[in-house]
Amino acid sequence: MRPNRATAEELDAADPLAPFREEFALPDGVIYLNANSLGPLPAAVPATLDDIARRQWGERLTRAWNEDDWWHAGLRVGDRLGALIGAAPGQTVAGESTSVQIFNALTGAARLRPGRRVVLADAGHFPTDLYQAESVARLLGLTVHAVPMAELPASIDRHRRDLAVVFASAVDYRTGELWDVPGLTAAAHEAGALALWDLCHAAGVVPVRADAHGIDLAVGCTYKYLGGGPGAPAYLYAAARHHAALDLPLTGWHGHARPFAMEPAYDPAPGIGRARIGTPPLISLLALEAALAPLDRAGIDAVHAKSSRLGTFFLTCAAALLDGLGFSPVTPEDPSHRGGQITLRHAEAYPVMAALKERGVIGDMRPPELLRFGLGALHLSYADVFDAVEALREVASGGTYREPRFQPSGVVT
Ligand SMILES: Cc1ncc(COP(=O)(O)O)c(C=O)c1O
Repeated sequence: MRPNRATAEELDAADPLAPFREEFALPDGVIYLNANSLGPLPAAVPATLDDIARRQWGERLTRAWNEDDWWHAGLRVGDRLGALIGAAPGQTVAGESTSVQIFNALTGAARLRPGRRVVLADAGHFPTDLYQAESVARLLGLTVHAVPMAELPASIDRHRRDLAVVFASAVDYRTGELWDVPGLTAAAHEAGALALWDLCHAAGVVPVRADAHGIDLAVGCTYKYLGGGPGAPAYLYAAARHHAALDLPLTGWHGHARPFAMEPAYDPAPGIGRARIGTPPLISLLALEAALAPLDRAGIDAVHAKSSRLGTFFLTCAAALLDGLGFSPVTPEDPSHRGGQITLRHAEAYPVMAALKERGVIGDMRPPELLRFGLGALHLSYADVFDAVEALREVASGGTYREPRFQPSGVVT
């Protein structure tokens, strides 16, 4: 692939997913490379939100629980999400935040391996995952060993007699590296342990095969590549073989076998219904249901194929245009080892990203030196990628990013 705009336009002309761009409402003059943080607004969602507010809530009021089937929304949307992560129906529930689902899933997983005291966690895990792992360990009297992913196979082997759960992210949120989910899951099983995966950066961009790869439990958010919107509910997947013994700590009334019997004692629902907790954030949940339509129609394999090609084109353009400007690629070149994002290192990542955003190219940074560019395949063109790298070249070579207004401000990076 030659790193120029003519090549980008040729690639766009041959792109079967190009028409999906119109299904997203993006402002003019913006190149949005941040679906790894918050997916862009699907164009159909505002009308859905209007319907939820005015007709379902405004007119039907509590009748909507039955008439719009609000009651089953967590399971219904769960099955839609399940299909995107390779899970057969009846194993995935949508609701709550990722942080809450991590607590529920990790505690539940550890309780499936009583007597085993070790949790192995990815040392590069997103912070909330490590915080929750420590808290769960304190509650259950376990020990967490946080190890770099490259050392995980050896650590699994070392702790095999006492290992309860291996808890890692399928895709590293900083580097975009995709780990060997099937291989590590199999290694955990060989040691008699379970594998719990955080799929936040994998779902909707990488074809995860939860059932086929024998994943025990998984959690993930829906506001990144799944497009559910800010604060959209997360999900929990638990393989059907574990349901009968799955003792989750958050025993809310929606997870009861007979919720409307209002019984004083908890009796978990059979199947994945026990992973429901309390009333979910319905407005968000129903917006998520509408948001999934473009991804469902495009198909995860086609999305992954384009995202991989966009990533390769990004890296090719970066190598040609950013040479000598202080950038180095962090994400693996091999698309089979990447998720949906490309990360570049630069010593002045914060002001460089701030100056880039001022030009309408939106990515983000993670301290101290990482620039992240999420490549949402349904709304981005190859021309967008070329223009973004060209803008990065201009920002870095002109030195404007050194101006005081690009110094850190605001909480969110
Ligand atoms: C890998 C990973 N896990 C968890 C979270 C966040 O959890 P929550 O949805 O509770 O904020 C993120 C947020 O970006 C993430 O990247």
